[in-house]
Amino acid sequence: MVNNTLFWIIFNVLVISNVCGTSCHLHGYVAECVNTNLTEIPEIPGYINVLIFVGNNLGTVTIDTFRNVENAGRIWKLSPAADRIVNISENAFQTFTSLDELDLNSNKINVNDLKYLLWNISVTHHLNVLQLNRMGIKTINEETFSLLDKTPASSLYLMHTGSPQIPYLD
Ligand SMILES: *[C@@H]1O[C@H](CO)[C@@H](O)[C@H](O)[C@H]1NC(C)=O
Ligand SMILES: *[C@@H]1O[C@H](CO)[C@@H](O)[C@H](O)[C@H]1NC(C)=O
Ligand SMILES: *[C@@H]1O[C@H](CO)[C@@H](O)[C@H](O)[C@H]1NC(C)=O
Repeated sequence: MVNNTLFWIIFNVLVISNVCGTSCHLHGYVAECVNTNLTEIPEIPGYINVLIFVGNNLGTVTIDTFRNVENAGRIWKLSPAADRIVNISENAFQTFTSLDELDLNSNKINVNDLKYLLWNISVTHHLNVLQLNRMGIKTINEETFSLLDKTPASSLYLMHTGSPQIPYLD
């Protein structure tokens, strides 16, 4: 038991220093890279099922952004919030086949990209929580959801916390 615990601690320390660099922390099945201003997602081990990548600097997000996520199909919660995402491709989250919660809070994504992204994920995913708070008036307007009436509304849920301007809260 003690040996197992020790092994687990050493294993985690090795993983933190070798795989994620000093910017990310792994605890259990959760990987967190918070307020590190990273411009790309580092190697995320295959056993991780929650990826919190918040307060970084992604700019443009495509499928390729997640190339270092070893097993995207295992991840049920993905939080690329406050990552300065401006452009995002409609199939960006295609490899996240088990996704249940997606948190895009505090990204000023261009409205056209978000419109097609939402359309796409409403058809291809079955999210229970989609967070789109503090995205700015240019991102969230009547145009943003204009394609969604073509899909079953029940596949998309929006959570509005109405909280003040806290950059990120989990
Ligand atoms: C984050 O990186 C950008 C450029 O990549 C830089 O302009 C900015 O100052 C950085 N922010 C912090 C808090 O380090
Ligand atoms: C977003 O896309 C536009 C058009 O392709 C490009 O000019 C701009 O630099 C991109 N912005 C970021 C932050 O990647
Ligand atoms: C979603 O994106 C994928 C990959 O680009 C595409 O094959 C699919 O047709 C798109 N679905 C919708 C509803 O836009």
